[in-house]
Amino acid sequence: MTQATAKLIDGNALSAKLRTDVAQRVTALKAKGVTPGLAVILVGENAASQVYVRNKVKSCAEVGMHSVLERYDASMTEADLLARVDALNHDASIHGILVQLPLPAHIDANKVIEFISPAKDVDGFHIASAGALMVGQPGFWPCTPYGCMKMLESIGYALRGKHAVVIGRSNIVGKPMAMMLLQQSATVTICHSATPDLKAHTLQADVIVAAVGKRNVLTADMVKPGAVVLDVGMNRNDEGKLCGDVDFDGVSRVAGYITPVPGGVGPMTITMLLVNTLESAERAAGEAPTA
Ligand code: GUN
Repeated sequence: MTQATAKLIDGNALSAKLRTDVAQRVTALKAKGVTPGLAVILVGENAASQVYVRNKVKSCAEVGMHSVLERYDASMTEADLLARVDALNHDASIHGILVQLPLPAHIDANKVIEFISPAKDVDGFHIASAGALMVGQPGFWPCTPYGCMKMLESIGYALRGKHAVVIGRSNIVGKPMAMMLLQQSATVTICHSATPDLKAHTLQADVIVAAVGKRNVLTADMVKPGAVVLDVGMNRNDEGKLCGDVDFDGVSRVAGYITPVPGGVGPMTITMLLVNTLESAERAAGEAPTA
């Protein structure tokens, strides 16, 4: 029996293409005397965070950007961290500040994020950035949902009038994702852990974004044939292999498009961090097209 197979949206290939464009714009900006700079702050020894920050710093170098990685012991005080953020807010060589989350429990992450200058908030986590997205003003968009939007753009998907279902309501992915989809005139449903019948919603969806951090949240019986499925999840299966929130094998027989894990949304997150940092530098240099 032949089965329909979803087309893959390749996050590595799209990232490579976007990063080539970023590198060219970095070169152009450097020729005018401005080198885009990202500061990454890591507090503590979280193993996953160490991998993430290393990749962020490495990716900056690959596109010709300046970056600094500041690593601090888990015992760092909140006051000391705020002082570092303040110094970076005033450092003209730094256009983006990223404080890697999670932070140790004794530090109020919200307080630290609100201390970052909105002009350098390349993670898009500041309340000013969230507010700007909400009301459609220029500002930094959180990198993961921004990457998802670029993936939809890459397949020429027109969201206007389409029904999008976002599974997950985090401040980092679910909520900003819903706002971005809404801004493109999709009809948006946000589902979460208290949604009684998830399948009833997803079966109606033209686009599904799964962002809960739990395996097999979305299975083939929950997907309308031809739907576009974006998988933001990063989990491990029983064999320890990286997998997303979506049952990839099953869903790819029903969906029209699907993002793999790994090699889907993941690489796009760092790519959009580079884009945000570049745009911050372009704005600082007085030549940014507004978002
Ligand atoms: N922790 C996990 N993902 C992220 C991210 O995108 N930004 C920051 N700052 N911390 C994270």
